[in-house]
Parts: sequence; C-alpha cells; structure tokens
Amino acid sequence: MTGTIRTMDLFAGAGGLAQGFKQSGLGYETVFAVEIDPAAARTFKQNFGCPVYDGPIEKVPDAEYPQVDVIIGGPPCQGFSPLGRDRDDASRAEINELWQQYLKAVRLVRPKVFVIENVPEFQKSVQFARLLQLMETDEDLKAYKFGYGVLNAADYGVPQNRRRGIFVAVREVDAVPWPPKPTHGPDSPEDTPYVTLHDAIADLPAYPERTEITAEEDGRQDLHIRRTPTQKSLDRYRAIPPGGNRFDLRRNRPDLEPRCWADKPTGTTDVMGRLWWDRPSVTIRTEFYKPEKGRYLHPVHDRPITHREAARIQSFPDDFVFVGSKIEVARQIGNAVPPLLGESLARFVYDLAFASGLR
Ligand SMILES: C[S@@+](CC[C@H](N)C(=O)[O-])C[C@H]1O[C@@H](n2cnc3c(N)ncnc32)[C@H](O)[C@@H]1O
Repeated sequence: MTGTIRTMDLFAGAGGLAQGFKQSGLGYETVFAVEIDPAAARTFKQNFGCPVYDGPIEKVPDAEYPQVDVIIGGPPCQGFSPLGRDRDDASRAEINELWQQYLKAVRLVRPKVFVIENVPEFQKSVQFARLLQLMETDEDLKAYKFGYGVLNAADYGVPQNRRRGIFVAVREVDAVPWPPKPTHGPDSPEDTPYVTLHDAIADLPAYPERTEITAEEDGRQDLHIRRTPTQKSLDRYRAIPPGGNRFDLRRNRPDLEPRCWADKPTGTTDVMGRLWWDRPSVTIRTEFYKPEKGRYLHPVHDRPITHREAARIQSFPDDFVFVGSKIEVARQIGNAVPPLLGESLARFVYDLAFASGLR
C-alpha cells in the first residue's frame, strides 16, 4: 500500500513508540497526540510537528479526536492490582482507569488497528481481564481480533533487555498471530546476535566535558553530558569492577559503604552496578544518571551513563530532539518505548492490516 497511514498517539511521552512507526518508512504519520507532561508534549511536537493536546486525556473533548487508521499508546504503568487480590485504593483506581480513556478513544474513532503498551504486570491484572472481556462483548470492540504477550526489546534489535506488555488489535481480519517475529537473538530466523552495549555506545567520548544539554549547529543536541560527583562517589565507582555491584564495594572498600546498604546485607544486585560491554543493557529507567538506583555505571569508565548513552540504549536516533531540563529529558528517555521495538510493531501491524491495501 502507498500513502499515509494516519496515526494517533495517546499517553505519547516523548514519542519513542511514534518514532518507531515513523522510521519504519511504511507511511505512518502521527496527526494527533495526547500527553499531560508539558516538557514531553513539547518534545513530541518538535519531532512530529502535529497538534498535541498537552493536558489530561480525561479532558479531551470527543470532537478533538481526529479520524485515524491507527491508535498507539501506553497508559501509565503504576499500581495495577494483581489478579485475585483486592489492593485497590482510590488513587490507584484512578490511574488504572486511564486505560479506559484509551478505549473510549478507540470506540469513538474505530481505527483499523490499535496497540496498547504497558508494563508486563498489566497483562496479569484485573484491569486486563476486564479489557479481554470487553473485547468479546462490547459492540464496537467485537469487530477486532487481537494478540498479546510480553516482548523483550532486545529480541527486536534494541541494545537493552526491556520487557513490555504489548496488545495489538486489528479490525476485520481472521486472526492476529502472535508474537511478532524476533529480528535478533536465538528465536530470530537467522540467529542474529543481540545488539550489545558496546555496539551502541563505544564510539562516545570517555569523559564528556559539558554538564548541560546544548544545541549543536546542525540542529542536533549534545546529550553526552557529565555529572559532577563528589570524591567519595568517585571512589565508590572505582571500587566496582566490570559487571560488579554494591557488594563489591563491601569487599573492596567497606569504609565507603553507605550505612543503609551495610544494614541491608541482601537484596537487589543491580544497585551501584556496572553494565557489561558484551550484552544488551539492563532496563533503563527514568533516573539512569544515579548509580545508586540501578546498574547504570559505564562498563569501564568511572561514571554513570550519560543522557546520550541512555538514549542510544533506548535506540533513539541521534537527531531526535528532547525538550526540557536534564531531569525532564531523562524521564522522557526512561519512559519511552524503544523506537526499534516500535518499528517492529509498525511492520507487524502493516502486514496484517495495510499491506494488501485494505483499510
Ligand atoms: C509510559 S509513558 C509513554 C511513553 C511513550 N509511549 C513513548 O514511547 O515515549 C506514559 C505517559 O503518559 C502520560 N500521562 C499520564 N497520565 C496522563 C493523563 N491523565 N493524560 C495524558 N497523559 C498522561 C505521562 O506523562 C507519560 O508521559
């Protein structure tokens, strides 16, 4: 099929998922997005040039939703109550209802395809069970066939192990075969090796000079920025060998071990961990610049990964522009769906819904 596939992104963030659809080159064009965070909304507008409703989705007037072929998006991930346990409190219930706002837009617009992305736990939640029930009983939703499961971004060429719950629904098809074929790893057709951290970031300077995000003359951004750690933090980083973590600090420099860790002799092995060169990174979250929050130390240099390194690990192209403070940009990077995973999803739904020219 040639021509534009009109796409709408709800809970759009910076647009990692939308970037994947765009860069697939299959004709997807985002024509409208909804995002409550002002900095992320500005990033989206900057990169996709479409109208962005920068407020709560609950307030979007029905008439503002345009006619589109595809809806994509990830309702926020906090606090899904596991099946069989009643753990809802008022605020969590409110967050959980956001996926229903997504469904409301689906019912209004009736796109050919919709894609929901979320944390893996969503697919084990009461809310997801309710979604499956609606897919079978709701007059508007019954027309869709669907497939779902947990996908690892590394299987789709991303230099990162990042597991996401993905749900794909297509109207008026016989079935949605699941999962999308991995492009990398042991289940890929040619056993293509995973993309490693070395592949993704080894070309970047060891110790960046700038401390602030700067616009370059060619319109790109310098996101390879350093922090200014205390001597004590530096000494801690130096005590962690390749692949090591906070327990190496205890072995090598017990004098530098923070009291709260000394009091907690067991627990997560990622805290103050060093990444490995020869494998995909661990999951990058929104505070990747704090080594005390996870395995975010560079494999060989004595510093946490930079914003550019995190964006590369998320498979953002270097010409993607982020708007906001360092903290806001880190949040957008850490919250994103890796564009390369998005690209595989874009191909998957294209083959199912648009390749034959039907809409
Ligand atoms: C997981 S992130 C989305 C990431 C995005 N799909 C990407 O690939 O970059 C979820 C987003 O939902 C936004 N959000 C949360 N509550 C919202 C609401 N009530 N209305 C609109 N957006 C909301 C958050 O600000 C956050 O950016």
